[in-house]
Amino acid sequence: MPDNHPSLGYIQKSETEPFRRLRRLRMKEAFRSMVRETELSRGDLIYPLFVIPGTKTRKEISSMPGVFQLSIDEIVKECAEVKDLGIPAVILFGIPEHKDETGSEAYNEAGIVQRAIRSIKKEIPELVVITDVCLCEYTSHGHCGIVRGNEILNDESIELLAREALTHAQAGADIVAPSDMFDGRVQVIRRILDENNFHHTPIMSYAAKYASGFYGPFREAAESTPQFGDRRSHQMDPANSNEALREVEQDILEGADIVMVKPALSYLDIIRRVKDRFAMPTAAYNVSGEYSMIKAAGRNGWIDEGRVMMEVLTSIKRAGADLILTYFAKEAAKVLQEERKLRK
Ligand code: PBG
Repeated sequence: MPDNHPSLGYIQKSETEPFRRLRRLRMKEAFRSMVRETELSRGDLIYPLFVIPGTKTRKEISSMPGVFQLSIDEIVKECAEVKDLGIPAVILFGIPEHKDETGSEAYNEAGIVQRAIRSIKKEIPELVVITDVCLCEYTSHGHCGIVRGNEILNDESIELLAREALTHAQAGADIVAPSDMFDGRVQVIRRILDENNFHHTPIMSYAAKYASGFYGPFREAAESTPQFGDRRSHQMDPANSNEALREVEQDILEGADIVMVKPALSYLDIIRRVKDRFAMPTAAYNVSGEYSMIKAAGRNGWIDEGRVMMEVLTSIKRAGADLILTYFAKEAAKVLQEERKLRK
């Protein structure tokens, strides 16, 4: 005991009841890594990409530093890099040349995403190509389905989503991921895929997707801001948790192979409940706003960006996610690759 901190005598050491020294296993990195409970790996990551018309075009998204809208030729280059980094999959979002009331470019066989899939699968067949199945990037009003008056129609919209999913599968998509949150879409998509011999194309459903303010930067990236109203009539209320279990259960009954919770960070409790209840392959979407906050604070020197990135991704994994969709995928893969080299 240093002289200026005399022991107060409260701590009584006894041979029979020693207190537990939890710090023992924190004393050196070798110990810490031996008892580490959660290990993020590159194989957990899915990298989102935004496809735009044209060639040789890379447009940085101002609210998402380091994320670009890319023309198909650039996407192919990006995908080669993603694969070399050990990331197994990408998810594609398309920004079409024309938008209309019914989002017809979404289910055009020669649409932007369909062409991108063909090019990627031709050049890098091993990379898993997932497609986001939604209409919001393709409709002139920015809604995820057909609108009549003030209502976003359910049954009419899911027919179109099914057509969209089928054209993605026909173009070579490995997994389709409906992100609309309409009722019954997984069932209709499963049926159309099966009828067309795509029995083996899995569905990753955005099963518990919340009406979240964290999608702000994405809407700039995907040019999909609703022109009126919002998405609260189909996306979930952030205050609800039991309802998320009902949503997930429904999607599983309808045939979802992977279920997703979105966003991730404000919904870690939901990820944990979903994983514990259903024990399904579970994905979490670390969304645009979650990315931008870290980038912004990092750029201001307020936080150590790289460290916070790894902490956040590890927390999502620890909560129960098997897969993480994240704009940090490439940066995180580089960190994980370095760590692996150091360990060898
Ligand atoms: C809908 C879709 C959205 C996101 C993924 N798919 C936006 C929305 O629901 O408004 C958001 C992803 C993100 O914020 O990173 N196609």
